[in-house]
Amino acid sequence: MSVADAIERRLEVRSYTDEPIAPDTKRAVLDAARLAPSGKNTQHWRFVVLDELADLERLGELSTTGAWITDAAFAVVVLTDPEYTYHRLDAGRAITHMQLAAWERELGSCIYTGYDEEGMRSFLGAPDRYAVTAVVGFGHPDEPLEGRKRRRPLDEVAFEGRFGEPFDVD
Ligand SMILES: Cc1cc2nc3c(=O)[nH]c(=O)nc-3n(C[C@H](O)[C@H](O)[C@H](O)COP(=O)(O)O)c2cc1C
Repeated sequence: MSVADAIERRLEVRSYTDEPIAPDTKRAVLDAARLAPSGKNTQHWRFVVLDELADLERLGELSTTGAWITDAAFAVVVLTDPEYTYHRLDAGRAITHMQLAAWERELGSCIYTGYDEEGMRSFLGAPDRYAVTAVVGFGHPDEPLEGRKRRRPLDEVAFEGRFGEPFDVD
């Protein structure tokens, strides 16, 4: 898999088979998060891995936008320290690393951000100073792993020199 291939083709996957995940694969996904860059290399993120069905069901109950997590083989809850203004950006970098590492191993994944944050903190036993920034579900896809992306055209989102000026590489 090339990086360009992953960028062009990877899609979010919210439906998974029951096939178990090899421990090495799970470790590789978490290690990809650990290796992500973070502002000033603070590495303030923490990752809680959940793979028991009862825990995944509890995540689903606490979520407003991620009920599909109960279907996942495992979930990673990403906690970050809001003392750093860029803490959510750091979470995004780590999450992208995990999702690409998973995709390379033919695992599907999806992120969600809607949940009862206090409920999540209490469920996980997380210290108050951490924000619960996102949850990512992983599993063998029960839907196409790749396909056509629905994205705005480049000239709608990229400008040259000043906002609104057409981007022109030539
Ligand atoms: C910051 C962020 C938050 C997201 N939150 C949710 C969410 O709460 N629930 C969900 O099902 N998907 C969520 N997604 C997934 C997006 O809906 C998905 O990335 C987008 O639709 C593009 O999907 P595609 O790459 O499959 O085309 C989130 C994605 C991002 C980047």
